[in-house]
Amino acid sequence: MSTRKLFELDGKVAIVTGASKGIGKAIAESLAEYGAKVVVSSRSQETVDEVANEIKAKGFDAIGIACHVGRDDQRKTLVEKTIAHYGGVDILINNAATNPVYAPLEAIENVIFDKVMDVNVKACFDLAKLCFPSMKERKGGSIINIASVEGMKPTGGLSIYSISKSALIMLTKSQAAEWGKYGIRSNAICPGLIKTKFSEALWSNEMMMKQVNNHLPLRRAAETSEMAGLAVYLSSAAASYTTGAVINSDGGHMLM
Ligand SMILES: NC(=O)c1ccc[n+]([C@@H]2O[C@H](COP(=O)([O-])OP(=O)(O)OC[C@H]3O[C@@H](n4cnc5c(N)ncnc54)[C@H](OP(=O)(O)O)[C@@H]3O)[C@@H](O)[C@H]2O)c1
Repeated sequence: MSTRKLFELDGKVAIVTGASKGIGKAIAESLAEYGAKVVVSSRSQETVDEVANEIKAKGFDAIGIACHVGRDDQRKTLVEKTIAHYGGVDILINNAATNPVYAPLEAIENVIFDKVMDVNVKACFDLAKLCFPSMKERKGGSIINIASVEGMKPTGGLSIYSISKSALIMLTKSQAAEWGKYGIRSNAICPGLIKTKFSEALWSNEMMMKQVNNHLPLRRAAETSEMAGLAVYLSSAAASYTTGAVINSDGGHMLM
């Protein structure tokens, strides 16, 4: 097979959570461009329909299915509806996440800890479990957990988020270790600073960006499209021997 063909995702079914904007949207668009049938998901049906329609307008295959990943029943419905519509699941991109606080550890309420863990860790664990029977039956699958450099090196004030992303990295390795025998691969992408709504407080602050850029080897924040190629690669046969990997895409942040 030619190397170019290895990246093709024709006929594969992909669920992307948090795909109404930001990194998830860029990944959903790219997976569709490479031939996948894409389930665009986030909390609002209206916004996921908009993104799915944009993808379809380019001649690719997509459907919008709303799901708040923190809700057990909605996660189950997301996977059930995907299987009813497309017949199975091959690729799961656990991308949706939350970060409701910027505060020192001692000021963070337990209820916030639970909320972050529910959305950033438990949802990814459960969605993968829900997709597992279909992936096993299809004799393969690719799970991509969108973690963060924060999961390896904490910044003051983001502690609960960092803890959750660290747990997501270990979930990735556990999935890879236990499900490799079924042909199911699991890998984590750790973005650095990407220009999205999520990180706007940082990249829109000129003074802060000056400081960041002075140290960061690539001297800039990234666009969302710069995360998409890695997700296509990890989803595809080009990464057929890659599992349990934790890949930074961070402009060199982890060198600092
Ligand atoms: N941007 C960065 O610098 C950066 C760095 C490292 C890691 N990351 C990670 O990258 C991922 C994507 O972040 P982003 O920067 O692209 O964020 P974003 O632009 O704010 O997009 C977040 C997406 O998640 C959806 N979402 C939020 N809460 C949800 C929930 N409970 N259930 C379902 N969908 C939910 C949002 O849609 P609705 O509001 O419509 O539900 C939206 O589609 C996250 O895992 C984040 O931790 C980002």
